[in-house]
Amino acid sequence: VLNYASVHPPVHLLRYTVVQDISAVVRALEQGVKKADVDPAVKAVVICGTNGTFSAGADIRGFSSIQAGDRPSLASVIDLIERSEKPVVAAIEGMALGGALEVALGCHYRVAHAQAWVGLPEVTLGLLPGAGGTQRLPRLIGVPAALDLITTGKHVLAAEALKLGIIDEIMEENTIDAAIHLANKVSGQPLNSRRLSLKQVQSLPNMDAILSEALVKVKKQARGCLSPEMCVQAVKASVQLPFTEGIRKERELFNLLLSSGQAKALQYVFFAQRAAQKWTTSSGASWKTASAQPIRKVAVIGLGTMGRGIVTSLVKAKMSVVALEQDQKQLEVGARAVTSLLEREASKMPWIGQRPDACDPALLQFTLDFSVLQDADLVIEAVFEDMALKKEIFHKLSAICKPGSFLCTNTSALDIDEIASATSRPHQVIGTHFFSPAHVMKLVEIIHGRHTSPITIATAMGLAKTIGKIGVVVGNCFGFVGNRMMAPYAEQAVFLLEEGCKPKEVDQALEGFGFNLGPFRMLDLAGLDVGWRSRKGQGLTGPKLAPGTPARLRGRRRYSPLPDLLCENGRYGQKTGRGWYQYEKPGARIANPDPWLHNFLIRYRDAHHIKARFIDEEEILERCLYTLINEGFQILDDGIASDPEDIDVIYIYGYGWPKHRGGPMFYASTIGLPRILAKLQKYSEAHPDIPRMQPSAFLKKLVFLGNPPLKEWMSHAGHQSSKL
Ligand code: 3HC
Repeated sequence: VLNYASVHPPVHLLRYTVVQDISAVVRALEQGVKKADVDPAVKAVVICGTNGTFSAGADIRGFSSIQAGDRPSLASVIDLIERSEKPVVAAIEGMALGGALEVALGCHYRVAHAQAWVGLPEVTLGLLPGAGGTQRLPRLIGVPAALDLITTGKHVLAAEALKLGIIDEIMEENTIDAAIHLANKVSGQPLNSRRLSLKQVQSLPNMDAILSEALVKVKKQARGCLSPEMCVQAVKASVQLPFTEGIRKERELFNLLLSSGQAKALQYVFFAQRAAQKWTTSSGASWKTASAQPIRKVAVIGLGTMGRGIVTSLVKAKMSVVALEQDQKQLEVGARAVTSLLEREASKMPWIGQRPDACDPALLQFTLDFSVLQDADLVIEAVFEDMALKKEIFHKLSAICKPGSFLCTNTSALDIDEIASATSRPHQVIGTHFFSPAHVMKLVEIIHGRHTSPITIATAMGLAKTIGKIGVVVGNCFGFVGNRMMAPYAEQAVFLLEEGCKPKEVDQALEGFGFNLGPFRMLDLAGLDVGWRSRKGQGLTGPKLAPGTPARLRGRRRYSPLPDLLCENGRYGQKTGRGWYQYEKPGARIANPDPWLHNFLIRYRDAHHIKARFIDEEEILERCLYTLINEGFQILDDGIASDPEDIDVIYIYGYGWPKHRGGPMFYASTIGLPRILAKLQKYSEAHPDIPRMQPSAFLKKLVFLGNPPLKEWMSHAGHQSSKL
């Protein structure tokens, strides 16, 4: 853990390596500091990491074994470091995150490499810095800056850390030598002024207002997640209490978070996100056997909402892009939109603007000419959700593009195999389902068709990573994973309106659960015409619907024509200023309840002899969430997703599922599968005409098997049907 090989008398160098067992690191640090303290030959100590990295902090897996009530022993070692009579200097290379930055804060001086970055990301794991970070950082950099870092978990580069006062010196190279030099220089000097625990937090005239505003802000943003609020409480303690009492408060809040269940969910998400990157197909192919091909030039077809966002994401990642439209006018509109998105992104991230090649015209080319796509390494088609149009384009691409180029279709539901059938290279065809707005949303569903080759999957996953997205490999079926699960959820929301709810009541229940947007606000934002077009395509409404079909039945399944009726009235959502809500003007964002809609619902219920009833929040949540989860079990059993973790990552990064609830499948595991099954059975008995409420066979099987933990679910799934 620690090696003493590099001792530079009279400076003692403690070089520590992150290992699985955090307690071993803590023990070794303690021994190292104690040894240096008593060794008269040692005049100062430098603490550094190995292989160019200081440390990423505590082992997250280790938290599950910490019992509430334990004080992380790291805290006492940091106290020991700070109390040392010999100057201790942290030499930060790579990164110092979480507990590692707390170690550095316990040191008397901090030197960092120019490329190093630091941060306290504990809040993102449902915790707070539990080794004195919430008490030392405000004493070092003041309350406003400390609140910003601790409540967001953001990382800052060395230059900013220097400006904030977190570090004392930046080095372009030889950070450890510089730290040794500094240690020699300050050896023998008094240390009290460098001990943060002895400092007072700088007082500000408006401190109360700063703290209460911070609390209001985090509560609003956190949507039920406790850790940001507890971080503010801990920082408040640094202002109001002496150091030792502040530490006690920090420990109390840390223990509270540790036992809240949210920390477990957020830590699960941390690992689920990483697990999703390690895709494997049923044939055994994986990122270990198939490598991503280099992609230098990407072509994007279609500059509508999705195409613009995709082009922006690619250019931000410094990729060479050709954007194609079908006529001059659309090309110009699209080009202007992309330029404005890029400008907006650059203003949010000043360093993009400073990069000379960020918007290099040579990187971004707009064209009407299909033949320019000839030498693209990868093409992303992002036109309308129209199968005939997509097939026509793929047929053309197959003839024009060089043999090695990969052909991706951005679709939210359509059959990848059918699109691939229009080409002579189905093994190089893959679905890339971006989420709107594509330059912001992190998720890309990577849809594996029947013939898609592992190299194509690896390349699409590689591209997602390059452009800062989270790719999740899924199988091919209508709606894939995300939208397939969304369908029963949105369907329930509309059925609830038929039965007596108002859109706002349903939205409030789900926003109270933690969603960014309830289903009706979300549908208004996405545009109601999207689903309408899809339902018309499926023959559920519109000219293809058989004459005489009852309004509220399709076959023997319950159907609600409400969304179709809204569209027939020109109510497409935000963009038309009317949808499930009304807006001040088309494109405005604030959703207001619309008396027209409420009267419309009353007339609709009368016309269909539906007696409105009061529906409580519990029923709203259970019907929407449990039917979504039920579809998730069906998806696992069908082999469309390879793991519950994949589904959870999709829901968190694509659909605004509250992260502190861990995703729908993790949430199901916390509720307990027997309860979910019992509720679905109850609701499906009350609504036998809603087949999606009938519990999936896989869910029943898992309950029968005694509700095994989530990690074991897939060992009981029907693997022979895997679509991956
Ligand atoms: N604990 C356990 N495992 C960790 C870890 C940690 N703190 N940080 C990274 N890992 C693991 C990942 O799970 C992954 O494992 P895998 O290869 O088996 O999938 C591997 O390390 C590599 O991680 P990434 O794939 O994320 O690699 P990147 O290079 O993309 O990112 C990183 C590296 C920036 C360090 C990123 O992993 C990260 O942000 N880690 C979390 C850091 C963190 O939150 N630290 C605070 C811990 S809490 C703490 O210190 C408590 C204290 O206050 C008491």
